[in-house]
Amino acid sequence: MADTIEATGLAIHPGMLSPAEQRSLLAQIQMVMKRSPLYRPTMPRTGKPFSVMMTNCGTLGWVADKAGYRYQPRHPETGKPWPPIPDQLTALWTRLGAPATPEACLVNIYDEGARLGMHQDSDEATFDAPVVSVSLGDTAVFRMGGTTRRGPTRSVRLSSGDVVVFGGPSRLMYHGIDRVLSGSSRLIEGGGRINLTLRRVTPWTDAAAS
Ligand code: SIN
Ligand code: FE2
Repeated sequence: MADTIEATGLAIHPGMLSPAEQRSLLAQIQMVMKRSPLYRPTMPRTGKPFSVMMTNCGTLGWVADKAGYRYQPRHPETGKPWPPIPDQLTALWTRLGAPATPEACLVNIYDEGARLGMHQDSDEATFDAPVVSVSLGDTAVFRMGGTTRRGPTRSVRLSSGDVVVFGGPSRLMYHGIDRVLSGSSRLIEGGGRINLTLRRVTPWTDAAAS
Protein backbone atom coordinates (compact mmCIF):
# COMPACT_ATOMS: atom_id res chain seq x y z
CA MET A 1 0.00 0.00 0.00
CA ALA A 2 1.26 3.44 -0.88
CA ASP A 3 1.33 6.22 1.70
CA THR A 4 0.03 9.23 -0.14
CA ILE A 5 1.11 12.51 1.36
CA GLU A 6 -2.09 14.51 1.48
CA ALA A 7 -2.38 17.67 -0.59
CA THR A 8 0.77 16.92 -2.56
CA GLY A 9 -0.21 13.67 -4.30
CA LEU A 10 3.24 12.21 -3.64
CA ALA A 11 2.93 8.44 -3.28
CA ILE A 12 5.51 6.42 -1.36
CA HIS A 13 5.37 2.64 -1.80
CA PRO A 14 7.50 1.16 1.01
CA GLY A 15 9.16 -2.12 0.11
CA MET A 16 7.55 -2.33 -3.33
CA LEU A 17 10.53 -4.34 -4.61
CA SER A 18 11.21 -7.63 -2.83
CA PRO A 19 14.80 -8.44 -1.79
CA ALA A 20 15.09 -10.76 -4.85
CA GLU A 21 13.83 -7.98 -7.15
CA GLN A 22 16.30 -5.54 -5.58
CA ARG A 23 19.16 -7.96 -6.21
CA SER A 24 18.24 -8.55 -9.85
CA LEU A 25 17.76 -4.84 -10.47
CA LEU A 26 21.11 -4.09 -8.83
CA ALA A 27 22.81 -6.63 -11.14
CA GLN A 28 21.24 -4.96 -14.18
CA ILE A 29 22.29 -1.50 -13.04
CA GLN A 30 25.83 -2.73 -12.44
CA MET A 31 25.85 -3.83 -16.11
CA VAL A 32 24.60 -0.37 -17.13
CA MET A 33 27.46 1.20 -15.15
CA LYS A 34 29.99 -1.05 -16.90
CA ARG A 35 28.78 0.06 -20.32
CA SER A 36 28.13 3.64 -19.31
CA PRO A 37 30.63 4.67 -16.61
CA LEU A 38 29.76 6.94 -13.70
CA TYR A 39 30.85 10.53 -14.09
CA ARG A 40 30.76 13.48 -11.73
CA PRO A 41 28.38 16.22 -12.90
CA THR A 42 29.06 19.87 -12.15
CA MET A 43 26.81 22.81 -11.33
CA PRO A 44 25.98 25.17 -14.16
CA ARG A 45 27.95 28.44 -14.07
CA THR A 46 29.97 27.75 -10.90
CA GLY A 47 31.32 24.39 -12.11
CA LYS A 48 31.11 23.09 -8.53
CA PRO A 49 31.18 19.28 -8.57
CA PHE A 50 28.17 17.31 -7.34
CA SER A 51 28.79 14.94 -4.42
CA VAL A 52 26.59 12.41 -6.26
CA MET A 53 28.04 10.44 -9.20
CA MET A 54 25.75 9.81 -12.18
CA THR A 55 25.09 7.84 -15.33
CA ASN A 56 21.91 7.08 -17.30
CA CYS A 57 20.12 4.49 -19.32
CA GLY A 58 17.36 5.10 -21.85
CA THR A 59 17.14 6.99 -25.12
CA LEU A 60 17.84 10.22 -23.26
CA GLY A 61 19.94 10.94 -20.20
CA TRP A 62 19.99 13.89 -17.83
CA VAL A 63 23.34 15.67 -17.61
CA ALA A 64 24.68 18.68 -15.71
CA ASP A 65 27.77 20.68 -16.59
CA LYS A 66 28.93 24.29 -16.81
CA ALA A 67 26.62 24.87 -19.79
CA GLY A 68 23.50 23.87 -17.84
CA TYR A 69 21.08 21.04 -17.20
CA ARG A 70 19.71 19.10 -20.17
CA TYR A 71 18.80 15.74 -21.68
CA GLN A 72 20.99 14.22 -24.36
CA PRO A 73 21.18 10.84 -26.17
CA ARG A 74 24.89 10.24 -25.42
CA HIS A 75 27.22 9.94 -22.45
CA PRO A 76 29.12 13.25 -22.00
CA GLU A 77 32.51 11.54 -21.59
CA THR A 78 32.39 8.42 -23.79
CA GLY A 79 30.15 9.91 -26.51
CA LYS A 80 28.28 6.59 -26.65
CA PRO A 81 24.49 6.18 -26.56
CA TRP A 82 23.13 5.31 -23.11
CA PRO A 83 22.29 1.58 -22.64
CA PRO A 84 18.62 0.58 -22.69
CA ILE A 85 16.46 0.81 -19.58
CA PRO A 86 16.23 -2.67 -17.96
CA ASP A 87 12.87 -4.39 -18.62
CA GLN A 88 12.28 -4.68 -14.87
CA LEU A 89 12.10 -0.87 -14.63
CA THR A 90 9.93 -0.43 -17.71
CA ALA A 91 7.55 -3.02 -16.25
CA LEU A 92 7.48 -1.14 -12.93
CA TRP A 93 6.62 2.10 -14.79
CA THR A 94 3.69 0.37 -16.49
CA ARG A 95 2.56 -1.35 -13.29
CA LEU A 96 2.34 2.07 -11.64
CA GLY A 97 0.04 3.28 -14.40
CA ALA A 98 2.52 5.69 -15.98
CA PRO A 99 1.91 6.40 -19.69
CA ALA A 100 3.77 5.11 -22.76
CA THR A 101 7.37 4.15 -21.89
CA PRO A 102 10.01 5.99 -19.86
CA GLU A 103 12.65 7.72 -22.00
CA ALA A 104 15.24 8.47 -19.33
CA CYS A 105 16.53 6.65 -16.28
CA LEU A 106 18.96 8.70 -14.23
CA VAL A 107 21.25 6.61 -12.03
CA ASN A 108 22.44 8.51 -8.93
CA ILE A 109 25.18 7.00 -6.76
CA TYR A 110 25.50 8.19 -3.18
CA ASP A 111 28.65 7.20 -1.36
CA GLU A 112 29.19 8.17 2.25
CA GLY A 113 28.68 11.93 2.69
CA ALA A 114 26.89 12.48 -0.64
CA ARG A 115 23.78 14.63 -0.67
CA LEU A 116 21.52 16.35 -3.18
CA GLY A 117 20.25 19.90 -2.68
CA MET A 118 16.57 20.83 -2.90
CA HIS A 119 15.42 21.06 -6.53
CA GLN A 120 12.46 20.48 -8.85
CA ASP A 121 12.59 18.01 -11.76
CA SER A 122 11.70 20.54 -14.41
CA ASP A 123 14.01 20.01 -17.40
CA GLU A 124 11.46 17.84 -19.20
CA ALA A 125 9.29 19.05 -22.09
CA THR A 126 6.22 17.48 -20.48
CA PHE A 127 5.08 17.25 -16.87
CA ASP A 128 2.08 15.08 -17.71
CA ALA A 129 3.80 11.83 -16.82
CA PRO A 130 4.88 11.09 -13.24
CA VAL A 131 8.48 10.72 -12.12
CA VAL A 132 9.11 7.25 -10.68
CA SER A 133 12.01 6.91 -8.26
CA VAL A 134 13.46 3.63 -6.94
CA SER A 135 15.83 3.36 -3.96
CA LEU A 136 18.44 0.61 -3.57
CA GLY A 137 20.98 0.14 -0.79
CA ASP A 138 21.50 2.40 2.20
CA THR A 139 18.55 4.35 3.58
CA ALA A 140 18.31 8.03 2.61
CA VAL A 141 16.81 10.98 4.45
CA PHE A 142 14.59 12.39 1.69
CA ARG A 143 13.41 15.98 2.13
CA MET A 144 10.33 17.33 0.43
CA GLY A 145 8.73 20.74 0.25
CA GLY A 146 6.02 22.28 -1.85
CA THR A 147 6.04 23.57 -5.41
CA THR A 148 7.88 26.76 -4.46
CA ARG A 149 11.38 27.00 -3.04
CA ARG A 150 10.10 28.55 0.18
CA GLY A 151 7.75 27.12 2.73
CA PRO A 152 7.83 24.22 5.14
CA THR A 153 9.61 20.97 4.37
CA ARG A 154 9.46 17.55 5.96
CA SER A 155 11.62 14.50 5.70
CA VAL A 156 10.99 10.81 5.32
CA ARG A 157 13.39 7.88 5.15
CA LEU A 158 13.64 5.95 1.90
CA SER A 159 14.91 2.38 2.25
CA SER A 160 16.04 -0.18 -0.28
CA GLY A 161 13.10 -1.34 -2.40
CA ASP A 162 10.97 1.75 -1.75
CA VAL A 163 9.40 3.43 -4.78
CA VAL A 164 8.25 7.07 -4.89
CA VAL A 165 5.84 8.37 -7.52
CA PHE A 166 5.76 12.12 -8.13
CA GLY A 167 2.46 12.57 -9.93
CA GLY A 168 -0.25 15.20 -10.21
CA PRO A 169 0.44 18.17 -7.93
CA SER A 170 3.63 16.56 -6.61
CA ARG A 171 5.21 16.34 -10.08
CA LEU A 172 6.97 19.66 -9.52
CA MET A 173 7.55 19.29 -5.79
CA TYR A 174 10.89 20.47 -4.40
CA HIS A 175 12.90 17.56 -3.02
CA GLY A 176 16.43 16.56 -2.11
CA ILE A 177 18.53 14.10 -0.14
CA ASP A 178 19.84 15.39 3.21
CA ARG A 179 22.07 12.40 3.86
CA VAL A 180 22.49 8.67 3.50
CA LEU A 181 22.64 6.42 6.56
CA SER A 182 25.83 4.51 6.04
CA GLY A 183 25.68 0.80 6.83
CA SER A 184 21.86 0.65 6.91
CA SER A 185 21.60 -1.93 4.09
CA ARG A 186 23.67 -4.90 3.00
CA LEU A 187 22.38 -4.97 -0.59
CA ILE A 188 25.35 -3.20 -2.18
CA GLU A 189 28.80 -4.61 -1.54
CA GLY A 190 30.87 -1.87 0.06
CA GLY A 191 27.72 0.10 0.99
CA GLY A 192 26.20 3.23 -0.52
CA ARG A 193 22.91 4.05 -2.15
CA ILE A 194 21.63 3.94 -5.73
CA ASN A 195 18.60 5.94 -6.82
CA LEU A 196 16.98 5.29 -10.19
CA THR A 197 14.70 7.99 -11.55
CA LEU A 198 12.48 7.15 -14.50
CA ARG A 199 11.12 10.02 -16.53
CA ARG A 200 9.24 10.87 -19.65
CA VAL A 201 11.10 13.76 -21.32
CA THR A 202 8.95 14.45 -24.38
CA PRO A 203 5.17 14.29 -24.93
CA TRP A 204 3.76 11.01 -26.22
CA THR A 205 0.74 10.13 -28.26
CA ASP A 206 -1.56 7.37 -27.10
CA ALA A 207 -1.19 5.73 -30.52
CA ALA A 208 2.58 5.40 -29.94
CA ALA A 209 1.96 3.78 -26.57
CA SER A 210 -0.18 0.95 -27.88
C1 SIN B 1 16.73 13.03 -7.53
O1 SIN B 1 15.95 13.85 -7.12
O2 SIN B 1 17.28 13.11 -8.65
C2 SIN B 1 17.13 11.83 -6.69
C3 SIN B 1 16.29 11.62 -5.48
C4 SIN B 1 16.79 10.45 -4.68
O3 SIN B 1 17.98 10.16 -4.71
O4 SIN B 1 15.96 9.79 -4.01
FE1 FE2 C 1 14.94 15.08 -8.48
